Amino acid sequence: MSCDVGLYGLAVMGQNFALNMAEHGFTVAVCNRSPGKVDDTVERAKGEGNLPLLGFKDPKDFVQALKRPRRIVILVQAGKPVDDTIAHLSGFLEAGDLIVDGGNEWFPNSQRRAELLRPKGILFMGMGISGGEEGARKGPSLMPGGEPGAYELMEPIITKCAAQVDDGPCTFNIGPVGSGNYVKMVHNGIEYGDMQMIAETYDLLKQLGGLTNAELATTFTSWNETELASFLIEITGIIFTKADDQGAPGELVDYILDKTGMKGTGRWTIQEAAERNSPACVMAAALDARYISARKDERVAAEAILKGPTDPTPAVDKAAFVADVRAALFCSKVVSYAQGMNLIRSAGQELGWPIDLAECARIWKGGCIIRAAFLDDIKKAFQQNPALPNLLVDPYFSSMLNSRTAAWRRVVQLAVVSGIAAPAISAALAYFDSYRRGSLPANLTQAQRDFFGGHSYQRTDRDGVFHCEWTSAHKAIGNIAERT
Ligand code: 6PG
Repeated sequence: MSCDVGLYGLAVMGQNFALNMAEHGFTVAVCNRSPGKVDDTVERAKGEGNLPLLGFKDPKDFVQALKRPRRIVILVQAGKPVDDTIAHLSGFLEAGDLIVDGGNEWFPNSQRRAELLRPKGILFMGMGISGGEEGARKGPSLMPGGEPGAYELMEPIITKCAAQVDDGPCTFNIGPVGSGNYVKMVHNGIEYGDMQMIAETYDLLKQLGGLTNAELATTFTSWNETELASFLIEITGIIFTKADDQGAPGELVDYILDKTGMKGTGRWTIQEAAERNSPACVMAAALDARYISARKDERVAAEAILKGPTDPTPAVDKAAFVADVRAALFCSKVVSYAQGMNLIRSAGQELGWPIDLAECARIWKGGCIIRAAFLDDIKKAFQQNPALPNLLVDPYFSSMLNSRTAAWRRVVQLAVVSGIAAPAISAALAYFDSYRRGSLPANLTQAQRDFFGGHSYQRTDRDGVFHCEWTSAHKAIGNIAERT
């Protein structure tokens, strides 16, 4: 009964998070299904400064080594392995103990697990962890959502182990079970969007601007000193400098197959956005781009059949084009984060989670994959006005967008004319152009719905619900089959 916290599941994330907790002075008990990893972790703890970490090969001994109420973080593969681990460990637990699942999990699974454990008085928390291997070891962004009392049990540990930024640790009590998983899921959707938009800028700068890898490296590195400053921009700059590691001439990036893999959290975000009637076109474009990339053989075959523009590619002024692309990327990012924030809010309203959006932006400022300087401005926007309907209409962001739309349009126009797909950046601009218009062509869609289905419509000039007899127009059209 001497350890402060337990960690079960010693793959990369588990090992590193266990060492992180130990480094912050907590005595950590570790356990794993295959015992070899227990020895590895104990060795690492010794090697990294004799950290207070004890290894256990028997789950019962592991549980019994913990101070009560017990706190156990599990980091095993999402889905069935989590269920199996909970079933196994909960046999040794008592009322008041807490299990924290730190994996990328589909939020209803966390809700189901919490319900299962509730009759036994065992608390449950789903906690998204972002930052990969390095984040887990040195300070990740932690997104916890748990049963009442669960956060208080974890707070002393997670506020110390999370990344620290100027306004505190990158964690807060997001809300009930499922809400932490949800915020992490949206984080990953935004991650997909950011990565796709950066890939599009790379394509445009290379194909239209003619930038070499060295110039791309300089461009992204210099962008990291601007309003685009972020982890993903920083690593992109580094990627372009990396020489091939197999001895081929040039940079490694040029030898990597253009097929994107994924574990699926981005897909969940889009499923959820549809469920909540919440526009998420940037993340959806990013997801589609991954699906299209996976169809390499089809694309290679189609290349010989389908034609691009026949007009010559317009010449561009390199420096001016780089500046335009930078503006287009920034504007598109704002749209994507606005959509992500709105999705969190919609889900929160429907599921009874009053999630603090300013705090979500704050805890993404450090540790996580989408960490970016402009998250501080997003935090301020929601702090100033928690009911802000959309980040786009915040005074700071609207002025940033309005001063960059000309550049954004030039980039999308050039991409279209040149036949270079920029689906996420174009979708972001289309969203901006829809959102900023007081009237849209949806009146016609409503007329059609009423015409063929009697679905009714509202009018702009009087209250009420209307249905029109469109029959005479219908007769005028006649039978399409007869006319053709
Ligand atoms: C993080 C990441 C991480 C995710 C990978 C891979 O926040 O540290 O989001 O959780 O698993 O980025 O995601 P895909 O395989 O779906 O691209």
